[in-house]
Amino acid sequence: MEYLNMYEKEIQSSDLTMSPPTSEPERQYYYIKKAREIVAAKKKELNRDLTCHITTFGCQMNARDSEKLLGVLENIGYVNVEEEDADIIIFNTCTVRENANQRLYGHLGQLKNYKKKHPNTIIGICGCMMQEEDAVKTITTKHKHVNILFGTHNLYKFAEILCNSFDSDGVIVDVWKAAEGIVEDLPVDRKYSFKSGVNISFGCNNFCSYCIVPYVRGRERSREPKAILREIERLCEDGVTEVMLLGQNVNSYGKDLDNPMTFAELLDEVEKIEGLRRIRFMTSHPKDLSDELIEVMARSKKICKHFHLPLQSGSSRILKDMNRRYDKERYLSLVEKLRKAIPDIAITTDIIVGYPGETEEDFLETMDVVERVKYDSAFTFIYSKRTGTPAASNPEQVDEAVVKDRFDRLLAKVQKYSKEQAAKHVSEVTEVLVENVNEQDDSLVSGRMSNNSIVHFPGDKSLIGKYVDVKLVECKGFYYIGEVDGNIR
Ligand code: 5AD
Ligand code: SF4
Repeated sequence: MEYLNMYEKEIQSSDLTMSPPTSEPERQYYYIKKAREIVAAKKKELNRDLTCHITTFGCQMNARDSEKLLGVLENIGYVNVEEEDADIIIFNTCTVRENANQRLYGHLGQLKNYKKKHPNTIIGICGCMMQEEDAVKTITTKHKHVNILFGTHNLYKFAEILCNSFDSDGVIVDVWKAAEGIVEDLPVDRKYSFKSGVNISFGCNNFCSYCIVPYVRGRERSREPKAILREIERLCEDGVTEVMLLGQNVNSYGKDLDNPMTFAELLDEVEKIEGLRRIRFMTSHPKDLSDELIEVMARSKKICKHFHLPLQSGSSRILKDMNRRYDKERYLSLVEKLRKAIPDIAITTDIIVGYPGETEEDFLETMDVVERVKYDSAFTFIYSKRTGTPAASNPEQVDEAVVKDRFDRLLAKVQKYSKEQAAKHVSEVTEVLVENVNEQDDSLVSGRMSNNSIVHFPGDKSLIGKYVDVKLVECKGFYYIGEVDGNIR
């Protein structure tokens, strides 16, 4: 892929007879070149390709980070494979909920045998979980077959960390407590040729009382608008037509820049990029959702008709304790404003059930918001106690059976409304960006509507990356079955 080799000239001009440069990204170009030589020699020795596999947990941010890791791996000569039995196996971890940690440890236990049979395999673990001292300690003491551990702040140093690991028999632990600026211009390999995530900011300043993210991703840092726009322009030149602007809280984008810029202003600039057809973003914090943003969305031709607006709880009392800095009324008024300005917008959300101290009344407030907003879809989570967050030390943890019961009631309501919302669009003709051939039935392709709903319809792989007008023939609850009705672009 062209995008992968965009920095070829810079990589080639690194001088391996010298010591590595101290500036970035030049230092990483040097290590990419060095790693290429090591990988090429190993390939020759084994007389076969070397393979890599990355397993990604968690959010879009992690998915994008994995594309960066894969960009480096492919650039130095590894071949990406679907199966886990590779020469280098990476786990990009998430730690937002407790059970993710346990699942990773279970999986690492299973890999012990594989590593015994294939001692040269490199096992690497990175991502949010590695920013927690306890997780690093557990892995380095109980899972000694892991070779590399690194965190979220030095992901850009992957080539360098790999080179260190090639030279070492022991485990390399390289986790930074905080970020040191943003490094641009490293290779990336996108999962899709026609759409891409684009980081606009890193970290989070909000400290919602239940959330570990500010501790593992650090303070909010916005990328310079110029760097973002240049990246999107290059992506578009490389065939991308849809971007997802990524940040923990995109609505507070740009406040920390030397020349502050609002998220709405950034969107206006992104809109102008030639070749770009769809703009999405994730995630918005209701406390920072401005009228300016709603106006920009209403007049935009490219911003998709979808707004993900995490509610977390419908109880103003719980929201206060969560440090969310909005209440039920303010949230509902934002939804009203969005619907008024953009009538056909889909609204989706995240909801936590069983936050410490949540009473039945609080829960009914959440149910009330769901009834009023009628979300197109909602991610519902059982509260998970994250050590180190303020909510974890709250003595009023809710009984497990009570939480389970509330969760089931909430899920039933959420599903009822999302089915109702989806059914409204049946028989409409809508533009769909085709993403892949359907996994269950290869006579169908699957794509997304502007409002993020999924449609399956008859077609073949030649449609991937194309925009097709599709008639929504049948609603199957969370997705549609459609048929081509009009243009293919
Ligand atoms: N327990 C349960 N859900 C959580 N989330 C974040 N932290 C926790 C936690 N400790 C949910 C929030 C957030 C989504 C990404 O994950 O709803 O919006
Ligand atoms: Fe976590 Fe709140 Fe930041 Fe979202 S805004 S990442 S929920 S602290």
